[in-house]
Amino acid sequence: MIALTLEEKAALGSGADFWTTKAVGDVPAIVMTDGPHGVRKQLGSPDHLGIAGSIPATCFPPAAGLSQTWDPALVERIGAALGDECRAAGVHVLLGPGVNIKRDPRCGRNFEYFSEDPLLTGILGAAWVMGLQSRGVGASVKHFAANNAETDRMRSSSDVDPRTLREIYLRAFERIVADAAPWTVMCSYNRINGIHAAQDVWLVTTVLREQWGFDGVVVSDWGAVTDRVASVAAGLDLEMPPSGGATDAEVVAAVRDGRLDEAAVDRAARNVARLAAKATESASPAVAFDVDAHHALAREAAGRAVVLLKNDGDLLPLRPDDSIAVIGEFAQSPRYQGGGSSHVNPTRVDIPLSEIGALAGSVSYSHGSTADAVEAALAADVAVVFLGLAASDESEGYDRDHIELPATQLELLEAVVAVQPRTVVVLAHGGVVRLAPVAALAPAILDGALLGQAAGGAIADVLFGVVNPSGRLAETVPARLEDCPSYLNFPGEHGHVLYGERVFVGYRAYDARGLDVTYPFGHGLSYTEFAYTDLELSGITVRLTVTNTGTRRGREVVQVYAGLPTSTVARPPRWLVGFADITLDAGESGTVEIEFRRGDLAYWDARLDRWVVEGGDYVISVGASSRDVRLTGTLAVDGDDVRVPLTLESTLGEILADPVAGPRVVAALSSAAPSGLPDSGGLGTDIMRMVADIPLGRVVAFSGGRIDRAHLEQVLAEANAAR
Ligand code: BGC
Repeated sequence: MIALTLEEKAALGSGADFWTTKAVGDVPAIVMTDGPHGVRKQLGSPDHLGIAGSIPATCFPPAAGLSQTWDPALVERIGAALGDECRAAGVHVLLGPGVNIKRDPRCGRNFEYFSEDPLLTGILGAAWVMGLQSRGVGASVKHFAANNAETDRMRSSSDVDPRTLREIYLRAFERIVADAAPWTVMCSYNRINGIHAAQDVWLVTTVLREQWGFDGVVVSDWGAVTDRVASVAAGLDLEMPPSGGATDAEVVAAVRDGRLDEAAVDRAARNVARLAAKATESASPAVAFDVDAHHALAREAAGRAVVLLKNDGDLLPLRPDDSIAVIGEFAQSPRYQGGGSSHVNPTRVDIPLSEIGALAGSVSYSHGSTADAVEAALAADVAVVFLGLAASDESEGYDRDHIELPATQLELLEAVVAVQPRTVVVLAHGGVVRLAPVAALAPAILDGALLGQAAGGAIADVLFGVVNPSGRLAETVPARLEDCPSYLNFPGEHGHVLYGERVFVGYRAYDARGLDVTYPFGHGLSYTEFAYTDLELSGITVRLTVTNTGTRRGREVVQVYAGLPTSTVARPPRWLVGFADITLDAGESGTVEIEFRRGDLAYWDARLDRWVVEGGDYVISVGASSRDVRLTGTLAVDGDDVRVPLTLESTLGEILADPVAGPRVVAALSSAAPSGLPDSGGLGTDIMRMVADIPLGRVVAFSGGRIDRAHLEQVLAEANAAR
């Protein structure tokens, strides 16, 4: 760094072109590209909206589908495969994973994000980063932070209180930084509580670097920098895409006239240089990746991502000799990825109709006009109806204003079910859709969300039982959009989005309010069944026996939730603290052991500005979804020492709970009371309840000078010192 001039250091802090950093001195240039579920390497004109073409790459399941695997080991393998494709394409940093929380089902970009739950998001995101970076390719965890809507995304302020930010919106980022050490983090477009993420010294420096120890590059989302000098001062290292040198000159001028500390420019240049060295040292000469093997991996992941929502009368799996009427346009032109910067040019696409044809005895096809479809359904043993959202219904760049499937699709389904009771629905969509009408009609439903280029093969595998489904919802399917906790605060107005539902996001809210949902978080059936027995809790380790009580081999995802009924802060009845899977043959039993982290019991205490684990008896619920709890136990936890300094603004209740201040303050109050205090032991219970919330300073004021304020201040100072 020392060897570089100020101009050179400033130049390192912005790109050379849309996807490349600058080569400066002996610092090499590196190539970045989208991400996340495939490599979008553009050779022609560049864009960040997925408009111009890119080289062929495997389109793995987007996060909406991938998260439904609940399988970090599989996600890590996909990360590694993406790393191999990056190396083959000469890409040093892949712009992903997208780990924003699905706050509201209408967010147009939910297909690129994992879950409504921060733990599931953090675990899967960390696995993705570890896989990718194991190949010497850097990740860019995005979009930091609170970027949960597309509407007005470049200006809008996400107005979030500190507790909610930490517990819901920052938690996955924190976990990924701690567990996977991503090479880069990408700042989001939006503002947080009024400040642009890329200019937020608290977010980028205090939280990310100082509190979490992040030592990589902070890069802007493409076009997120509105004031480069303020951004560099706040902790941003790299502005993308570049501004033709204009902001480099602004940085130089700001240092020269004393508005910007040169140390900040040094930090940015050093971080970019270190990234460039690391990325180019580990880069191999271009080697072709194994297209077939990656397609097979995409199919395996897609198969694991399919959620069997419903299977009345064991309609599924289909029998090989069933004659099948395949209905719906998506059977021929599958919907398997989302629109915008993540749009991948697939190496190949499995067509569901052909894949079903390869496994079925006889297949007919109707693209979905009701006369046609009814006839086909009537003539077959089973109807398989493909429903879902069109690509134009949802995308990066805009949000939906409803969560309905097209009415024509529901009419079609109704007509088919009327003539063919053995009807299976296969769903494709990036964001959640309201499924109550589908669930009321169809006896069997498979939900893949978006499954990537091998969707067709994977769906056929699950339909015929080649794969026994084990996917689980990573997001609640609400009964109605109006029930969504963010319903009244989405997408905001006049440049502000109020996160008024606070920590009650997704199942946390539905469970707290006891609302009916169509399918709960974590739900997913199998072609076999599992029994849970013998729960043992030893500290933070949960152990249980799972038995496959059905007739075929299958995989079960066991979820562990914690709850603290005696919590002193508003908390959901239960929140996810761990999960694990087990694959068992029919009749086989196995032990599942899940060790969660004590920190996952914590809430963020805004008074103390830190995590606090409350003491008490936690209810540990083990189950197959947030609503399907099979076993519960109690875990006694010693809490953290929480000592908020006592002042005259502290209430009598708070002060009397303190062993040092309490008795001395009671003594002072008693001696000042004209007829002493009721109850010789101190304040009587009823009186105590009435006065517990009165700040001590107000009691002093009421006393008309009979209580010695200075004496109480002295008592509080001594009590604080003794803590
Ligand atoms: C998106 C990012 C993407 C970048 C580059 C932006 O519009 O928000 O996720 O990585 O463009 O294409």
